[in-house]
Amino acid sequence: MDSQTQMKKIVADEAIKEVESGMILGLGSGSTAALMIKSLADEIRSGKLQNIKGVATSFQSEVLALELDIPLIDLAAVSQIDLAIDGADEVDPRFQLIKGGGACHVREKLVASKANQFLIVVDETKLVQNLNQSFPLPVEVLPNAWKQVQEVIVEMKGNSSLRMATKKAGPVVTDQGNLILDVLFNDGIKNPKDIELRLNNIPGVLENGLFVDLTDKVLVGKIENNTPVVYSPSKVV
Ligand code: 5RP
Repeated sequence: MDSQTQMKKIVADEAIKEVESGMILGLGSGSTAALMIKSLADEIRSGKLQNIKGVATSFQSEVLALELDIPLIDLAAVSQIDLAIDGADEVDPRFQLIKGGGACHVREKLVASKANQFLIVVDETKLVQNLNQSFPLPVEVLPNAWKQVQEVIVEMKGNSSLRMATKKAGPVVTDQGNLILDVLFNDGIKNPKDIELRLNNIPGVLENGLFVDLTDKVLVGKIENNTPVVYSPSKVV
């Protein structure tokens, strides 16, 4: 196992310690969340956790949960989620996030917004001082709006590219049937709340990957003396 996977695995296992029997649980997307879902399945199989219901944030997490016999419930059928556990692409000291590296941020944000507790699991490569210095912000757009949205983003001093698929000709198509623009702003993102609102106000934009004031706790995996360890940083307020 490479060192990044070791960090992801230890943090995923640690996150499951926060789960209690009877919980409705938001199941995040991406490689770290997938490890968390596998760890959850182990605990359910062993009988340690009982009566868990998962709310999937993507086809990826839905398929994985089905394969591992984790009972699922539809987002529309629950009034609240006890705990949502998800990965992130960037985490700043105020726990503001960029998500959507896997193009799943629409449902991820819906689940996070309905969760009493939103727990982020990352390896330490995801910690940044300022958002969007290197990782582009994913913006989900309606298919025939992508050019028009790109032009507005230029007015906001951002450059965007249409995310292209691998092993399929043409662009990535999201779980909702839309496209993704990956945006780098010239000066990064200094005011995430403002940028989140301005982007979502552009006609044709469904949702962007800024998660502002949603995160309650972050677990970080790192390698110390050749051993993977977990810590939980305090939020800068
Ligand atoms: C998917 C996401 C993921 O949580 C994010 O991309 C992190 O993924 P990984 O754990 O594979 O690094 O937001 O839309």
